[in-house]
Amino acid sequence: MQGKRVIVGVTGGIAAYKAAELVRRLVERGAQVQVVMTAGAQQFVTATTFQALSGRPVRDSLWDVAAEAAMGHIELARWAELIVVAPASADFLARLAHGHADDLLTTLCLATEAPIAVAPAMNRIMWANAATQSNVALLQQRGVQVLGPAAGDQACGETGPGRMLEAVQIADLIAPALQTQGPLSGRRVLITAGPTREALDPVRFISNRSSGKMGYAVAQALREAGAEVVLVSGPVALCAPPGVRRVDVESAQQMTEAVQRELPGTAIFIGAAAVADYRPSECAADKIKKTGDCMQLAMNRTEDIISAVAARADRPFVVGFAAETTAVEQHAREKLLRKNLDLIAANEVGACKAFDCDENALVVLWRGGRRELPSAPKLDLARALVALIAERYSEHPQAANHAAHG
Ligand code: PMT
Repeated sequence: MQGKRVIVGVTGGIAAYKAAELVRRLVERGAQVQVVMTAGAQQFVTATTFQALSGRPVRDSLWDVAAEAAMGHIELARWAELIVVAPASADFLARLAHGHADDLLTTLCLATEAPIAVAPAMNRIMWANAATQSNVALLQQRGVQVLGPAAGDQACGETGPGRMLEAVQIADLIAPALQTQGPLSGRRVLITAGPTREALDPVRFISNRSSGKMGYAVAQALREAGAEVVLVSGPVALCAPPGVRRVDVESAQQMTEAVQRELPGTAIFIGAAAVADYRPSECAADKIKKTGDCMQLAMNRTEDIISAVAARADRPFVVGFAAETTAVEQHAREKLLRKNLDLIAANEVGACKAFDCDENALVVLWRGGRRELPSAPKLDLARALVALIAERYSEHPQAANHAAHG
């Protein structure tokens, strides 16, 4: 099987020399690497080094007629399964954050559906500058993975944060996105995570304490297991794990629509989101004014997303979560049957339990079986859960159907 197709973008900075080592590491790990250099990068290193290490001619211009005839920039943007920009200069981050397409690299970033990771490298004051920090926050919010920077001695003689991570650290951080083999290779998994927000008026909403940490950890573990992962996420302060495509939503209604849109071709559906069961019957057009001492709110049921997925004739393998404060296992088993799920992961929730914390414990139930996954950091727990899902899924008739179709 051929390795993942990675564009390594190199921008202008002294750390550009470390990009050569990064290309070597990625090729070593089986990736197919296409290097794209900005004009600034060429002031620091030459294309010859990258060509020798990647085995491909370096691309550096939108206007190179011969290169465009071989693989046009839109084709190249589609070819990429991951774009990693290292070093990413302050100027590049600004252009990326503001949607510029004024050279080949920014154009590719704008035209791709592949995940993007950036490894910033710059002087510590440039890094601390409010403009850079706001650009980085904007990029993270949009799902760009920001790797580093590290703190330490800088080429300019100063000391502080702004050094590019070492090539091996970058390669390790993007390793999950490079994985092609695993128990879920070739399987598409759709997962929901985070809370939903149900608007009361233009400035208020009803929501819950879900941080998205559990669902995001499961998304990362699925990717590590080789799956193609689509993560439908409510509003959270997390970045999508590398190699995972994130679809942002806010309300239960938007989550329902996104799940329906993304469902075709899905082998496994996982509902880790804490979806609102009720929404305000109306969202006031203007801010609701304070009137009497109490206020009553009329609420309507939201659609049960996971039950709707499990009710389909062409249903995928369906995994739910159950968040319970009492009789955890009993309620979870009822949900497994009532919602017609293949597997349910039950967690006890409450103040400092499961919601918005870094550890969790699960009891996983299916018809005729159960397994306890004891308290552990959410990523470790997610890896154990995904191994169990892969095991149960492989014994399920749906697995054979998806293998036949996929
Ligand atoms: O995000 P964290 O802070 O890391 O916290 C993790 C978590 C506690 C949110 C997570 O582990 C978890 O339990 N998620 C499911 C929360 C929940 O809504 O559970 P529930 O028992 O109310 O719902 C049961 C199942 O139905 C869930 O799979 C849920 O996604 C799904 N559901 C619920 C309502 C609805 N309208 N549509 C749904 O699909």
